[in-house]
Amino acid sequence: MSRILNCIVAVCPDMGIGKNGNLPWHPIRLSNEFKHFQKMTMTPLVEGKKNVVLMGRKTWFSIPAANRPLKNRINIVLSRELKTTPEGAHYLASDFSSALHLLDSSELEKQVDQVWIIGGSALYKEVMESSGPRRLFVTRVLKQFDCDTFIPDINMDKYKLLPEFPGVPTGLQEENGVQYVFEVYESTDH
Ligand SMILES: NC(=O)c1ccc[n+]([C@@H]2O[C@H](COP(=O)([O-])OP(=O)(O)OC[C@H]3O[C@@H](n4cnc5c(N)ncnc54)[C@H](OP(=O)(O)O)[C@@H]3O)[C@@H](O)[C@H]2O)c1
Repeated sequence: MSRILNCIVAVCPDMGIGKNGNLPWHPIRLSNEFKHFQKMTMTPLVEGKKNVVLMGRKTWFSIPAANRPLKNRINIVLSRELKTTPEGAHYLASDFSSALHLLDSSELEKQVDQVWIIGGSALYKEVMESSGPRRLFVTRVLKQFDCDTFIPDINMDKYKLLPEFPGVPTGLQEENGVQYVFEVYESTDH
C-alpha cells in the first residue's frame, strides 16, 4: 500500500505562500498557526516512530538556523545542486522519488510514520498533481499579503474538502488582526 503524502501549507487568497524567502505575512507572527503546524507534523500516530518532513532547499534555509532541524522529525532536504546534506539536516535527496525511496530503505523503513511535505512551491505542486493518496492541510489566510511564491489552486476534481479532521480546529481563527481557517482536503483520484 502506498503511503499517504500529507502537504501542509498556509496560503493567501491568491494562493501565495511566500515573499522574499519568508512567509507573506512576515513580520506578523501567527503563533497558533505555527503551533498547529508543529503539532500536526511532529505527532506520529504510532508510538516509537517518527514523522518525516520533506522540503526544498529554500524552505530549509528559510527556517532560522537555531530551529533547524525541525525537532523530533526526520528532516529531508531536496536539492539538485547540493552535493552534501546541509548542516543539521538528516538526509539529502536529489528528487522527489529518491526521497520516497529513502523512506523505504532498511535504515528508515521501521522508523518512519507519517510523511509531511512542508514546501516550497515546486514540491507542493508535484505532490498535489501526483497520484496515490494525498492530504492537503491548508490554512486559508483570509487577508491578502504581497507574495512572490505560489501554489496551484486545489483541483476539486481531484480533492474533496473534509468537514472535519481529528486535531484540526474548526471555525474562524484570528491572531494579530489576521483571520484564517484550517481546512483539510483528501484526494479522490486514487
Ligand atoms: N506558506 C507556507 O506554508 C510555506 C511553506 C514553505 C515555504 N514557504 C515559503 O516559500 C518560499 C520557499 O519556497 P520556494 O518554492 O521558493 O523554494 P523551495 O521549494 O523551498 O526550494 C526550491 C529548491 O528546492 C530544490 N527542489 C525543489 N523541488 C525539488 C525536486 N523535486 N527535486 C530536487 N530538488 C528540488 C531545488 O534546490 P536546488 O536549487 O538546490 O537544486 C530548488 O531550487 C519561502 O518564501 C518560504 O517562506 C511558505
